[in-house]
Amino acid sequence: MKDRYGREIDYLRISITDRCNLRCRYCMPNGMENALEHSQVLRYEEFVRLAGIFSELGFKHFRVTGGEPLVRKDAVSFVAALKKLPGAESVAITTNGILLEQLAPALKEAGLDAANISLDTTDPRLSAAICGVPDVVPQTVRGMEAARKLGISVKLNAVLLRDIEDSIPGLLEFAKDGIPVRFIELMPIGFGRKDSGISSAEAIELIRGLYPDIHAVEGKHGSGPARYFESASLAAPVGIIDAVSNRFCETCNRVRLTSTGKLKPCLCYDQGVELAPLLRSGASDEELTEVIRSCIFEKPKQHCFDDISEISENKLMSQIGG
Ligand code: 5AD
Ligand code: SF4
Repeated sequence: MKDRYGREIDYLRISITDRCNLRCRYCMPNGMENALEHSQVLRYEEFVRLAGIFSELGFKHFRVTGGEPLVRKDAVSFVAALKKLPGAESVAITTNGILLEQLAPALKEAGLDAANISLDTTDPRLSAAICGVPDVVPQTVRGMEAARKLGISVKLNAVLLRDIEDSIPGLLEFAKDGIPVRFIELMPIGFGRKDSGISSAEAIELIRGLYPDIHAVEGKHGSGPARYFESASLAAPVGIIDAVSNRFCETCNRVRLTSTGKLKPCLCYDQGVELAPLLRSGASDEELTEVIRSCIFEKPKQHCFDDISEISENKLMSQIGG
């Protein structure tokens, strides 16, 4: 469906849990300290009912996020249920990959189309410092390889923290090997506000130092906000997602559903509608549809990362799903 600015909104990100098996310092450094009670989190049937309504409204793309989505029991069955929605052209997941080696075959069977795997560095010491647990890199890489071998489309996502500068060459080795690698500017949400990142321009200069022939891929590549670059020495493109320094809100196509059932039309603001009370008090599909439709229609024009005093979202990224 279209919002008031004429943007076609057809992509729903669903955070199925705020829990995670890592403690990334820009996301949930205190681990499960403030984890939600199970009763506060929507049941899969509730998410599937909502996803069906989004599908009726013309949504085509669904992404399962967390926290870490694969730590929630039966995440695979949920993927299968989303895949069965008549309008679901793609169902993807964003994961830290730790459980992917084990779950990739079942996810493939469930119909998972794509997995974005978060990996900020391949350096064991830095990885431990960022993720808050000893070296998880080998496990993540094995998970990614398992998914890739089964034909699930994989991409690597690295957050552009200041201290991953020296990790860029190591991460680009994956692009040499045919895996798209995307660098994401650190967004000032949750603990991301306390951390320090580098800009996409700085990252592109570092990449150019390593691969001097790097150049922008003409035309749009993929359905998301990434801009892609390529080099004759790299078998896969390198993506840049620079929400902060290069606002791409004009082409935004997404809304988010938190694990507690809040529909969030923009990452930056607290604005949105709590769907759990409606779901749990017997609202009809028609009533839910109207509430969802009007929330999407009122999607803000743009985010406010350039003036952090305007940010009204106080949730952590693990509660929103990135
Ligand atoms: N800014 C940018 N990306 C973030 N992520 C988590 N917090 C932030 C932030 N503040 C990323 C994770 C993961 C995805 C879900 O979002 O690293 O790749
Ligand atoms: Fe877990 Fe992802 Fe947050 Fe890291 S960024 S703590 S892997 S949810």
